Amino acid sequence: MDVLVIGSGGREHSLAWKLKQSPRIGKLYIAPGNGGTRLVGENVLIDAMDFEGLAKFAKEKNIAFTVVGPDNPLGEGIVDFFKQRGLRVWGPVKAAAHIEGSKAFAKRLMREAGVPTAEFEVFSNHDDALSYVRERGAPIVIKASGLSLGKGVYVCSTLAEAEAALNEIMVERVFKDAGDEVVIEEYLDGQEISIHALSDGKDFVLFPPSQDHKQIGENDTGKNTGGMGAIVPVPWVGAEALKDIETRVVRPTLRALAEHGAPFVGILYPGLKMSSQGHKVLEFNARFGDPECQVYTRLLKTDLLDALEASADGKLGSAKIEWNSGFAVNIVLASGGYPDAYKKGFPITGIEEAEKVPGVVVFHSGTSNQGESLITAGGRVLGVSAVGDTLKEALARAYEAVELIHFEGKYFRRDIGRKALAMPMR
Ligand SMILES: Nc1ncnc2c1ncn2[C@@H]1O[C@H](COP(=O)(O)OP(=O)(O)O)[C@@H](O)[C@H]1O
Ligand SMILES: [Mg+2]
Repeated sequence: MDVLVIGSGGREHSLAWKLKQSPRIGKLYIAPGNGGTRLVGENVLIDAMDFEGLAKFAKEKNIAFTVVGPDNPLGEGIVDFFKQRGLRVWGPVKAAAHIEGSKAFAKRLMREAGVPTAEFEVFSNHDDALSYVRERGAPIVIKASGLSLGKGVYVCSTLAEAEAALNEIMVERVFKDAGDEVVIEEYLDGQEISIHALSDGKDFVLFPPSQDHKQIGENDTGKNTGGMGAIVPVPWVGAEALKDIETRVVRPTLRALAEHGAPFVGILYPGLKMSSQGHKVLEFNARFGDPECQVYTRLLKTDLLDALEASADGKLGSAKIEWNSGFAVNIVLASGGYPDAYKKGFPITGIEEAEKVPGVVVFHSGTSNQGESLITAGGRVLGVSAVGDTLKEALARAYEAVELIHFEGKYFRRDIGRKALAMPMR
């Protein structure tokens, strides 16, 4: 069967790479794709937000199944758009993706369903928000409610920072209407983990827990990024904690969405803080995390096409999702300067050599082709993934491969997985 993947990041390269391994796959298209996706399928130059263009392409090419990767088209209702035109598609409808598109909605839903999360209030008036912040004091966390390219969250350690954040969001309106509502919440300590649940609207399957490394600097310092590297599974998260997350977070959230008339089909990805007061949800995403997706696809044993179709068709209740043993990790290679301004267009070499290291696969995030050569075209450029029997082995392989890849300004964190290795194992 012919399949279309929508998106252009490392997530979509890894989805396409894994789908390609299905014995049932026919032609595989990626729109718009990147320098790596063209190695596993055919790139189609249609933007992920061009719903008309994408649906027209899917009709013309008789695409049997479309897989949507990124949050923006999901938030704008691409799944509804495809379904209205009789096209088979995987992902949440707009009303269900709202759990990511509006942090205020997600927080209210959690309050209603009794899901553990940081204490909070929602504001749409600057003066009210300011008084609340002054009353609560620092540390405090301020979030633009809408989609803001991962830049709408301010973790403030002083009152002055908090006041400046409110000013940027509510007075200067740097996120435009994504900042119409602001969530102000209690600061939580502890390590963050990523939970992914594949849902069909009624049943769901919990994936092993993973962990991203959000900040640009080693030891989790500096600005937040899209993610600098991931590991799966997280060895210190035990079966008991996972069961608790399943029963107190995933199940009640999916039930609440269904009760709101928005049953969730796709990947529900809560980000959690394993804080000293127990685990609490930071936010919900309505799609795979990136880089998390790049490690899940490496560890998944089940045919991804089977899994996603079971989700889309409401058949997860009888589906079996299996994982290989061991660990998968990835190290993101970024352009120097990221997440602030960076340059593009530098030639990339060494990927072939890197992939000769046992267990290594390199996924592309921000790359494109210029004639014969591959060049950098984004802040996050490549995701170097590796599998291994132990977390240590997977990390050693990935870091060996990282050294073989070259481009001007290459930056990566040398401590991916280090804090997981330092934890007592469960
Ligand atoms: N209540 C909180 N306490 C401490 N840190 C937080 C809190 N909320 C968010 N953060 C930090 O900010 C990051 C981004 O917040 P999140 O809600 O995940 O928004 P987004 O991913 O949309 O930017 C989190 O990964 C976490 O590191
Ligand atoms: Mg997040």
